[in-house]
Order: sequence, then C-alpha cells, then structure tokens
Amino acid sequence: MKPRLIDKQIWAVGAVDFDRRMFDALIPLPDGTSYNSYLLRGSEKTALVDTVDPAFASVLMDNLRDVPSLDWIVANHAEQDHSGTIPAVLEKYPRAMVVCSPKAKSMLMDHLGVSADRIQTAEDGSTLSLGDLTLEFISTPWVHWPETMSTFVREPGLLLSCDFFGAHVAQTDPFVDDDKLIYDAAKRYFAEIMMPFRTAIQKNLERLSRYDIKMIGPSHGPIHRRPEFIQHEYREWVSDTPANAAVVAYISMHGSTSIMVRRLVAELAGRGVRVAQFDLADTDSGKLAMALVDAATIVLAGPAIHIGLHPKVANAAFLANAIRPKAKFASYVGSYGWGQKLIEQLQSILTNLKVEFIPPVICRGLPKEADLAAVDALAAAVAAKHAESGCTDTTCR
Ligand code: FEO
Repeated sequence: MKPRLIDKQIWAVGAVDFDRRMFDALIPLPDGTSYNSYLLRGSEKTALVDTVDPAFASVLMDNLRDVPSLDWIVANHAEQDHSGTIPAVLEKYPRAMVVCSPKAKSMLMDHLGVSADRIQTAEDGSTLSLGDLTLEFISTPWVHWPETMSTFVREPGLLLSCDFFGAHVAQTDPFVDDDKLIYDAAKRYFAEIMMPFRTAIQKNLERLSRYDIKMIGPSHGPIHRRPEFIQHEYREWVSDTPANAAVVAYISMHGSTSIMVRRLVAELAGRGVRVAQFDLADTDSGKLAMALVDAATIVLAGPAIHIGLHPKVANAAFLANAIRPKAKFASYVGSYGWGQKLIEQLQSILTNLKVEFIPPVICRGLPKEADLAAVDALAAAVAAKHAESGCTDTTCR
C-alpha cells in the first residue's frame, strides 16, 4: 500500500497483509491484518510511529523513499510485528533515535539487536516536539506486553495506540467505514490478545478518559474516526459483570455427550440463558474466545479418553485458562466407559479462572433418564447462579 494521508502532516505508511491466516501461531485471522506505521511531518522534526512486520519491510522502506530525513522512531511496543523493521529504518537514517518506554529499551536490544546508544526512553507523560506537532507518551502497560505505551498527538487529538483498540483486518481504506463491521474483528482481537489483562486495561481506559481523543490509530486494522465506539466496547468487555450467557464447548465420540449437550443447551435457553455452543472437533478458536468475553458460565463437555479429558476438551480449557475470561461459574458434562478423573484434570487446568464449579453431570455410557434429569438440574443451577450474581442481558450484543 502506498502512503495515505490521514490528517494534514500525518501519513499511514505501513503494510496491509491480506493473506496472513494465523497470528502468533495461535489466532486464526479470517480477514488478514495490517501493520500500521505513521509518518508525522512536523514543522521542525519528522517522526515515525511504529514500523511493520519484517516480512513487509520492503513496503515501509518503499514508502519512506522520498522522506529525506527522520529524527525519531517511536516504538510503542517492542513486539516484532511493530518494531521488527526498526533496525532497517535506523540503518537508512543514521541520525534517527528510537523513543520508547523505559521497559521497552532492553526488549528492543534483546529481541532486535538495537544498539543502546540509538535509544532514548520516554517517561510516562513526557512530550516531544516536532515543531507544530507535539507527541505525548502515555504509559499503557499490558496492551499487550508490559512495556507498551501509546502516543498522543495533541494538535489533531490523535491517539496512536499500537495493539490497543486494534483489529486484525486487511483493507485498503485506512479508516473504519462502519463501526458494526469492525466489531467482530475488534472483539476477536480483544479476546485473544487483551482479555488476559482486563484489570490493567480498565486502568488504561480510565487514564485515557482524561484526553480529548478525536481519532484512534491502532497499529492493526483501520483508524477509528469515532473513537467513542471502540472505547465504549472496550469498557463493556473489561467490565467485571458477565452477561447472562454460557459457553458450551464439547466433543462427542459415540453420541452420549451430544445427547447431554443438546439437552443442556435447550434447558439453558429455556431459562433465558444465551448459549454459544461449539463442537470442538472443528471450532475456530477465535470465535470460542469471543464468546468467552461475555459469558458467565463455561461448560466443557466430552467423553473420557481412557480416564482423562479428551485432548480437544483439554485444549479448550487450556485456551480459556490462558485468556482469562471473566466467567464466574464452570461445569462439566460427559460420559465415561470404566472410570474417570475428568473433574480433577479440568480443575488442574483452570487455575487462572476465579470460577465456582457447579456439580457436573458425568454418566457411564449412554445417558439415562436420571442423567438427563441431572442435566436439567445443572441448567437450573446455572440460571439461578446467573440471577443471584447479577448477570445482565444488557452487556452482551
Ligand atoms: Fe501487534 Fe503485540 O503485537
């Protein structure tokens, strides 16, 4: 993509990656992604905020071809998809200095081999003048590593937030056209990248509420010209109150678990609980993660393999444990042949979640009437717990 003017003096000079299908070897990217880099041409100095993934270094370097000098390279985040091309830019501009948070300095040195004498650290709240543009550096830790910061360009009210408020979307238009169309991609991104750091993000949102932000330019996905939309959604996603919703993720070998899951989902829905059901034999982990953002209850389901969890179920539990959703309750439904240690294994995985375990329903072989009655009771218990704990129907979409 060629340079695109996004505001007078500010250009998008990064790369759009239409073909990438996985991120961090973990997150499916159905819509590709972008590595946004912003060129700010002040009346006295020029700065580049974030670079691009090294695989797209040639795009950025091409876009800088007619930029004769560069004074500053702001590294909001040390991860390779944003800082990986800093060494090439430093080589092109031998007098340019990198500006980053104090914590990012050693990361840039260790991960990318940037020399210490090319790095200047910026304290939280410090500023850098480009002449008629002023950059203010705001510490926004854990979006997505501990060293992350955001850069606020005061005069246009533009927040350059790197991963924060981002979305994995590849498109030629640099701006969000329709908030509703970016919602799923932004939520998928939040679920897998940001959700583990909900508490830190609550503080970051509070901090940013003091700024008059007119535009948010993340380093993945399009620029928000109506920043209140994405800020509002983030406040919903990080809130401590889950929705009156459950995730039921299951796998079935010979049909017993399927019978129980169908019954459970119907009973939950009949009691007003919104359910997202996933067959783990073929589930997009991004969709599962998105459903976990709001859900109050997680029910995993499957047969015992020998006596332990089915690996697909263990994998889903491991994912949930890693991304730390706000769920308050968990349970299990499944079957076994001759013995089982399903709950012990499940509890040993879900150690990061602050969930109350609701008694599971585990039957031998095919579920009998008594087992299905126990499933009904589980659904009733889940609905009652949701009501008691103040889960709302308004926090979900
Ligand atoms: Fe887009 Fe944490 O890197």
